[in-house]
Parts: sequence; C-alpha cells; structure tokens
Amino acid sequence: MISLKQLTKVYGRGPDAVTVLDRLDVEVASGEILAVVGPSGAGKSTLAQCINLLERPTSGQVVVNGEDLSGLPEHRLRVARRRIGTVFQSASLLSRRTAAENVALPLEYLGVTPAEAKARVAELLERVGLSHRAHHYPFELSGGQRQRVGIARALALRPSVLLSDEATSGLDPETTRSVVSLLRQLRDDLDLAVVFITHEMDTVLHVADSAARLDRGRIVEQGRLVDLLTDHDSALGRALQPRLSPADPGAGARAWHVTYDSRAVPADWLQRVSADLGEPAALLAATIQNIGGTSTGNATVGLVAPDAVRVEAAFARHGLRAVLRPTHHATRGTAPETPPAEPTLTTTRKEAALWA
Ligand SMILES: Nc1ncnc2c1ncn2[C@@H]1O[C@H](COP(=O)(O)OP(=O)(O)O)[C@@H](O)[C@H]1O
Ligand SMILES: [Mg+2]
Repeated sequence: MISLKQLTKVYGRGPDAVTVLDRLDVEVASGEILAVVGPSGAGKSTLAQCINLLERPTSGQVVVNGEDLSGLPEHRLRVARRRIGTVFQSASLLSRRTAAENVALPLEYLGVTPAEAKARVAELLERVGLSHRAHHYPFELSGGQRQRVGIARALALRPSVLLSDEATSGLDPETTRSVVSLLRQLRDDLDLAVVFITHEMDTVLHVADSAARLDRGRIVEQGRLVDLLTDHDSALGRALQPRLSPADPGAGARAWHVTYDSRAVPADWLQRVSADLGEPAALLAATIQNIGGTSTGNATVGLVAPDAVRVEAAFARHGLRAVLRPTHHATRGTAPETPPAEPTLTTTRKEAALWA
C-alpha cells in the first residue's frame, strides 16, 4: 500500500517558485489500481517522479508499507526504491538489448548472479506472456510487446507498488486493452498497489478501481470508480462515461440523456420505464459497464411523452436520472492534450537512476 501525505513539489525559489504539486493526499491499497488523470501540465509526471523519488518532494511524505521514503538519505533510497516498480512509455527500452536483457537490467544493478537473473527473467517474461520473444530486440517487438517488457522489468525487484506514467498512451485501443488486462491480472496475482497515470479518459474505465483528477497541481476530485460513475454531480464521473453517438429520435420524439444514478438500476429498466409511461421508449444509444459487480452507464432514450416531470419521475423510480438532451450536447469531457512527446534523452538518463 502507498500513501501520499500532503505531498508538495515546488520548483524554483523566491519569486520564481512554482508549486507543481500542492499538498496531495492519496492512498492506494494493495490489490487496487488508482488512475490519476488530468490535462497536460497538471503535474502528473512530476507526481510520478516524486513517488519513485527521482525527484525529492519539497514537503510531505511518500509512505510505502508504513515507511516514509521521502526523508531517507540517498544511500538508503536506492534500496527503498525497489519497492516501487516504474513503467514508462514504450520508448524507454534499451534498443541494443534484447527483451530478456532489458528485463535483466535491474537485476544486474542489484548484483544478482547470472544464473539467478536468468531464472527470474524467464519467470517474468512468462508472466507477461512474452517467453517466445525473449531474444528479440525492441525494434522487432510490437508496441504492446515492448510495453509488456517494460512491465516485466518494473516487476524484476518484486515491488509492492507499480507506477505507470502514460504507459498505454499512444497504443491502439486493442493493445491498450491487452496491456490494461495484464495490469489487472498482476494487481490480483501480486497484490500490487498500482498508480496508473494517464491523460486518456477511455482507458481509466477499463483499468481502474478508483480515480483521482489532478488539475494544476491539486487533486480536485477522487473516489471509487463506481461511486464517481453513479454520482451525477461528479465532473470526473461524467468525464469518464464513454461518448455516445445517439441515433435521431425521429419525428415528434425528444431525446433524453439518461445516467445511472444508483447502484441498483434494474437490467430491464427500459421496459419498465416504457411500461410506466405507457408508450414505447426507443433506445438510441447506450453504454453500460460492470464495475465491480455494479452496472453503471449512460444512455439516450427517445420518447414522445410531452410531460417532462412525468418522464423524469419514471426514470428516477428505477435509479436513473434523465435530462432532456439539447440538440448539440457533448456528453463527455476529455482531458485536452496532445499525445505526450517521446521521452527525451534526459528523461531516459534519469530513469536509469532507478536501478543504478
Ligand atoms: N524540472 C522542472 N522545473 C520547473 N518546472 C517544471 C519541471 N518539471 C515540470 N515542471 C512544470 O510542472 C508542470 C507540470 O508538469 P508535468 O508534471 O510534466 O505535467 P503532466 O505530466 O501532467 O503533463 C508544468 O508546468 C511543467 O512546466
Ligand atoms: Mg506527463
């Protein structure tokens, strides 16, 4: 388990001081994936670097399994960092090393015997489903495979926390899903506390148990995914709902935007609402997810019923909230950001400090 307590990072001094992280309080239990989302410049990568202590927090604590790592002297930090495995964007593999040699890197720095390292690397590659690619070089691997190598490498020293900064960004949706399902598998098998940082809202729904939104260095909202998604007042919950492209409701009918507002929405709500109103309800679009056993989602329903109050009540009876949909209505916010740039050489050098 990892807790951040009043974590603060200030760059610069005096009049030039910029507070990039402002007193963050976050907790991720073992066996839990927390997604940290936020637009470009929000402070996500700074947060990642403060968590694995590539950057020293200005104040506050990074507590892993009860021990505050932020105050440790440099020589103890090296050992403490082993508890946190970090996955970067795919480009951070060493190009002249095979998959197996990349995974072995942290073990080499640790001074593990070649025989031990070999056995451990084989086990790690098997865990990420890449035994058959052990001797391939990064350029011979797909983006998803490279990312799996990065994950295996992050796990080499048996961390209890896995930190991922934009690890799936730039991957196609199918590859993203396979990486995400690997992370969930690892969360369960290894009881990892996972901090999954991303600017891609779509991914959060598939990966996370809980989510926090970072905005200009502050956590402005956080909670369990299921709570966020069933809370109509949650901006983050709304932003996480997949985008709908509803069909035209047809002549005479109006489109209602419907959100799951409770944890107990019956599966056959459409029929029930239709029966209550005594008229057919047309399903124009819907997206429903099962999050930890609870259905959440949103839908667009076409109805002729003129009485808005009656319609709202009919939906409310089944734990749904319905609002008349304006003709042009964005149902979902995205974190506006261009894809992050490839890591620079300086970043890569810095990353190497994790194992050195
Ligand atoms: N070493 C640094 N010195 C000064 N400012 C920095 C440094 N690193 C990042 N920042 C600033 O901190 C803010 C957050 O950056 P970053 O953590 O990279 O955000 P994100 O990953 O969410 O896009 C940005 O305004 C950035 O310019
Ligand atoms: Mg970043």
